[in-house]
Parts: sequence; C-alpha cells; structure tokens
Amino acid sequence: MIPHNTEICVLRDAPTLTQAAAEQVVQHAASAVNSRGKFTVALAGGSSEKSLYTLLASTKFCSRLEWGRIEFYWGDERHVAPDHDESNYRMAYEAMLRPLKIPDVQIHRMEGELPSPQEAASRYESLLRNQLGNSKSPIPQLDLVILGMGLDGHTASLFPGTEAVHETTKLVVAPWVEKFQAFRITMSPGLINNARQVIFLVSGMEKACVVKAVLEGSFQPDELPSQVINPISGQLTWLIDQKAANALSSRKLRYIE
Ligand code: 6PG
Repeated sequence: MIPHNTEICVLRDAPTLTQAAAEQVVQHAASAVNSRGKFTVALAGGSSEKSLYTLLASTKFCSRLEWGRIEFYWGDERHVAPDHDESNYRMAYEAMLRPLKIPDVQIHRMEGELPSPQEAASRYESLLRNQLGNSKSPIPQLDLVILGMGLDGHTASLFPGTEAVHETTKLVVAPWVEKFQAFRITMSPGLINNARQVIFLVSGMEKACVVKAVLEGSFQPDELPSQVINPISGQLTWLIDQKAANALSSRKLRYIE
C-alpha cells in the first residue's frame, strides 16, 4: 500500500542513505526559511537518525544550514530523564545540537522526566500549539518530520497494538508499550500527517521483510503502524538502503547511486 504522494528512493548503502537524507534536510530547510523565515523539524531516535545528525553537524554539511533559523522538536521520546542513555533528546543533543552550540530557545524537547507521561504528552501538545499554532489550522504544521521504522513496523512511538495508532483527537499521546513494560511519548498520526514533508530512514537487511510488508502488503495498521503515515497534503519520502529494499518488487522505486 503506497500512498499517492510517496517517493521511494533506494540508496546503495547506509552511508549513501545518510548523505541523501542530509541533502534533503538542507533542501527542505532552505525552502522553509525562504518561504516562512524558519524551519521546524521533528527529530527521531534510531541508528540511521544518529548518523544523519552527526553528518549534519560535520564540517562537510554544517555551513549549508542556517542553524539560527531552525526550531527542533521531537516526534517521540522515552519516559526517561534527558541525561538518560535511552533519551532521544540526549542522542540528538550529543550528535548535533551540542557540537553546533544550538541555543536552548530553539530546542523543544519532550519532558520524558515527568513522573506522569500523560502530563508530558499534554504539556508537549500545548507547547506545539503555542509555538506552531495558527488560526487557519487546528493542527500545527511542521516543515519536516524525520522517522525511523523498527523491526516490528513501529514508527515514532506508535507501536503495534496500541491505541495511539488510531488517535484522532490528541496531538501527542503516551502509549504503554507492553514489550518494553514502559510508557513512551509520541506525536499522533494526525500531527505527523499534517507535516509538509515526512521522511523515513530505513537501512539493513533485517528490515527487508517489514519494509515489504509496510509498502506492498495489505493495510493492517494495528500490526504495522508505519502504514498510517500518509501526509494529508505533504510529501512522503522513504529513503531505504539496498539491503532493506531487497524484497521490494514495486516498479515505483527510484534508484540513486
Ligand atoms: C525510538 C525511535 C524509533 C526508531 C526506530 C528505528 O525512539 O524508538 O524514534 O521510532 O526511529 O525504532 O530505529 P533503528 O534505526 O535503530 O532501527
């Protein structure tokens, strides 16, 4: 099931994928700054994302972005303090935001340290409405949401079998994830799908089966939550390395060397 506004790009290997993702961030940032004076991006956890943040902060890329005009958000967070090993904020902070000395006012993290994850979710929803709300649209619009996909088909912290996958009212929710025996905090599908651009980064042979199931299998979002990502008017781009794309048969693939 491939939504109409979707581009699937197959990259030679993981480093080429990271490079392509960085080029996309540069391009979307320039276009957002040009049109609206700032660029709002939601970050994710995950290994491909970490490589992307490291590359963006490197001397090769850092001069190509107007860092002072970028506002950083998170698509999801673990229910941990910001200095915890598992914190998605900490990963992005250490890989990109700290090396680039991004001022705190541009960094809008989810408060995973709050005792109540529901409270953290509702506070983040208010923050998003305050920062990005506008009278024309009830749902804030991010310029770019960066997503990874887990082996179980989850994306952000929308996990199989959780009600979060079907959330239609709230912008941010705190699902209980049985397999981790832990709460997560995550943007809802409605919020992600209102973004101007959504990019999935997926690499590695172990993801080949789930990539095929999500993109070419039947629609079963309770098993494969990544299938609910389908931007309303924005563009969806899958950047997949050759190994993860191995089982795909679709003729819609674009190969990039
Ligand atoms: C999280 C992430 C998650 C991640 C995928 C892919 O906090 O768990 O936001 O959605 O992006 O699990 O992670 P890997 O690239 O490490 O497989």
